Amino acid sequence: MLLLWVSAVAASALAAPTPGTREHEMRVARAPNVVIIASDSFDGRLTLQPGSQVVRLPFINFMRARGTTFLNAYTNSPICCPSRAAMWSGLFTHLTESWNNFKGLAPNYTTWMDVMEKHGYQTQKFGKLDYTSGHHSISNRVEAWTRDVAFLLRQEGRPVVNLIPDKDRRRVMEKDWQNTDRAIGWLRQEAANDTKPFVLYLGLNLPHPYPSPSSGENFGASTFRTSLYWLEKVAYDAIKIPKWLALSEMHPVDYYSSYTKNCTGKFTEEEIKNIRAFYYAMCAETDAMLGEIILTLRELDLLQKTIVIYTADHGEMAMEHRQFYKMSMYEASAHVPLLMMGPGIKVNVQVPNLVSLVDIYPTMLDIAGIAVPQTLSGYSLLTLSSEASANEQTRKIPRLPWVLSEFHGCNANASTYMLRTDQWKYIAYADGASVQPQLFDLSSDPDELTNIATEFPEITYSLDQKLRSIINYPKVSASVHQYNRKQFITWKQSMGQNYSTAIAHLRWHQDWQKEPWKNENAIQQWLAAHPSPVAKDNKRTFLSYV
Ligand SMILES: *[C@@H]1O[C@H](CO)[C@@H](O)[C@H](O)[C@H]1NC(C)=O
Ligand SMILES: *[C@@H]1O[C@H](CO)[C@@H](O)[C@H](O)[C@H]1NC(C)=O
Ligand SMILES: *[C@@H]1O[C@H](CO)[C@@H](O)[C@H](O)[C@H]1NC(C)=O
Ligand SMILES: *[C@@H]1O[C@H](CO)[C@@H](O)[C@H](O)[C@H]1NC(C)=O
Ligand SMILES: *[C@@H]1O[C@H](CO)[C@@H](O)[C@H](O)[C@H]1NC(C)=O
Repeated sequence: MLLLWVSAVAASALAAPTPGTREHEMRVARAPNVVIIASDSFDGRLTLQPGSQVVRLPFINFMRARGTTFLNAYTNSPICCPSRAAMWSGLFTHLTESWNNFKGLAPNYTTWMDVMEKHGYQTQKFGKLDYTSGHHSISNRVEAWTRDVAFLLRQEGRPVVNLIPDKDRRRVMEKDWQNTDRAIGWLRQEAANDTKPFVLYLGLNLPHPYPSPSSGENFGASTFRTSLYWLEKVAYDAIKIPKWLALSEMHPVDYYSSYTKNCTGKFTEEEIKNIRAFYYAMCAETDAMLGEIILTLRELDLLQKTIVIYTADHGEMAMEHRQFYKMSMYEASAHVPLLMMGPGIKVNVQVPNLVSLVDIYPTMLDIAGIAVPQTLSGYSLLTLSSEASANEQTRKIPRLPWVLSEFHGCNANASTYMLRTDQWKYIAYADGASVQPQLFDLSSDPDELTNIATEFPEITYSLDQKLRSIINYPKVSASVHQYNRKQFITWKQSMGQNYSTAIAHLRWHQDWQKEPWKNENAIQQWLAAHPSPVAKDNKRTFLSYV
């Protein structure tokens, strides 16, 4: 059903005008080029103020001055693969069923780039993609599948910093720089070729933290690494030390996140400040890569013909709320940067509307003059950023005043749903009953330290009703639960007699080996628990979720 529906989407996107016709050729000839640079882990709040106080980001500021900045842009799922699946498909996570970093889109999925290519665009991708199934470590998936097991194990190395004491070292994340160079090389070739408009995607790994091999064989990535060159771009004095709740006051799911990320121990203020400084320095290096692309477009005289978009898959907590990484609905993790500049895009405009990464797909089609299918989860951003109407049809579709984000992966022991509306952020969990929800008033509590869900039951109730009208979230949570058990059983069987060794050597190996039989027992109990009724429902469809 989902597949059928998806191919219907692709077919309607391809409906008009027919490739090969004169009308089509004219439309393509008029269409601008597009370059989209998507980094990893970039806290979107760094783009809110011109000349961010804490770190120099000259090219993000250039885009701000020359284009449109979305002040309230969110990821649809705060982790790599599900977020990217939403961005490439234009569909919410419960529709792609990209539940964790191992499960994304099918490799042959028709993305917006494929649609643009069929309509005559020259297309190219470089760097990190990570939106299809099958990637990431065994730890990453087994820890996601077993998040409902009644044990609590640290999975990550403690977050640390690592300095390259070199004042001249610009290229720290070598692989990203190589991909940036390749993208620049491609642009130089394409520039000479104006028979077709082009769309180029560059995926950067920065400012994602680096692996911490000292944490064992299945290590995670908890090292914030930079050089003195980039650290000098950071204003240490402007770094805020985030306020933390006492461990006993934390929401239980946040506590689970903090614990599994090995952040419930003691951290000195200097340690936290350093982690944050190094993270900002990594953002400065990311900005420089964006800069190389912008400077190349300028040199090739392509800036007037090219729409440039900068965004990220999710943010980075960098010790806010006693966490690093993402996998959370807090601003540091869920708020992403989203800037656009180029022909027809409003200059020096900051848009307050709520937008999210599913809006990229319809935006790309709109830029290319391709009819936008109504079945997508997002809306074209051109209605907010374009000087003129690019496509009359899009104008008529009203943008809704909310965004939805979901999380079903590792380091959170309940499926999490965020509904962001005007001043509110409502976060519901699991079946909507067994875990208390959270409500933050972002207008008076931007640091999200006071959960007012019980204090304002009517607001909580109405936001919960609203959320349920968008997504039947208890049902989605139950499906994910079933999926996790099924995947785990399949994996366990495939490991045969190696299972005990394999499970003991995942990222949680230090904690696991303290009481291996107890942990195995907890898994046995989880597997023995009665499967929920959804298990028998094999005919789950797209419609059953809405
Ligand atoms: C993708 O591949 C699968 C299996 O290999 C196939 O069933 C499906 O029809 C393909 N979808 C598209 C859009 O080509
Ligand atoms: C967690 O952090 C502690 C120090 O606070 C460290 O000794 C330990 O190795 C870390 N655990 C993992 C799994 O890396
Ligand atoms: C230029 O356009 C032609 C025709 O669309 C295409 O075959 C070619 O690969 C493009 N790129 C270069 C660098 O020539
Ligand atoms: C999540 O983990 C925390 C910490 O162990 C626990 O208090 C809470 O009950 C768990 N929640 C769920 C829904 O399993
Ligand atoms: C178990 O491990 C051994 C030694 O590494 C390997 O040869 C064998 O194929 C593994 N068995 C399974 C079922 O993975």
